[in-house]
Amino acid sequence: MARKFFIGGNWKCNGTLEEVKKIVSMLNEAEVPSKNVVEVVVSPPFVFLPLVESLLRPDFQVAAQNCWVRKGGAFTGEISAEMLANLGIPCVILGHSERRSLLNESNEFVGDKVAHALSVGLKVIACIGETLQQRESGSTMAVVAAQTKAIADKVSNWANVVLAYEPVWAIGTGKVATPGQAQEVHLELRKWLHDSVGAEVAATTRIIYGGSVNGANCRELAEQPDIDGFLVGGASLKPEFADIIRSLT
Ligand code: G3P
Repeated sequence: MARKFFIGGNWKCNGTLEEVKKIVSMLNEAEVPSKNVVEVVVSPPFVFLPLVESLLRPDFQVAAQNCWVRKGGAFTGEISAEMLANLGIPCVILGHSERRSLLNESNEFVGDKVAHALSVGLKVIACIGETLQQRESGSTMAVVAAQTKAIADKVSNWANVVLAYEPVWAIGTGKVATPGQAQEVHLELRKWLHDSVGAEVAATTRIIYGGSVNGANCRELAEQPDIDGFLVGGASLKPEFADIIRSLT
């Protein structure tokens, strides 16, 4: 079965009310393939989620950039997966490297978050990726396999999981992975899923790439057989995001 492409726009901690409205109107005018070809998700900061959800074209969806690891309660400042589901927010990004490094989110904690978000019916974009030091020391696959295992240990149904390989050294740096570098890790991840989870999950799980994707480099990345889409940061705030979506056809 052909895997439907998937692209996420991670706005990170960016935007004012005026800027968000401009970005949404830009997205609403973009000429892009049908959602049956490319699934498009945009992820604004929490405070803009209901607004973006209300203004966004019906063939795109919104995602939160994080959620708490269990049901709500005395967890000041956190947003629960249940709250997102209650608001009709269908998707959430979890395990982003910026949270793993800045907030010390461990592999196990990310695995628990993914399992809980899935349990309330959310689609999860689960992020993994190695640092430059880990790549230069030759431990890229050991690192991303351990990150993926921590998720696989807690997940039984992969239908709502999108795996996002985001080499930390490519995020926000302009140093995009070469198509060969990205394809190599994506293929190894697919083999890991095949051997450790099962052939069906390996064949159907979208593995998307993130890290300095832009309108100039997206096409040759999209041509790689095991790159099923992108998780885009900076470029998702710009008109070129439409070019990146169109590259996935
Ligand atoms: O989650 C996507 C993000 O980490 C990639 O950021 O700006 O390198 O596209 P950027």
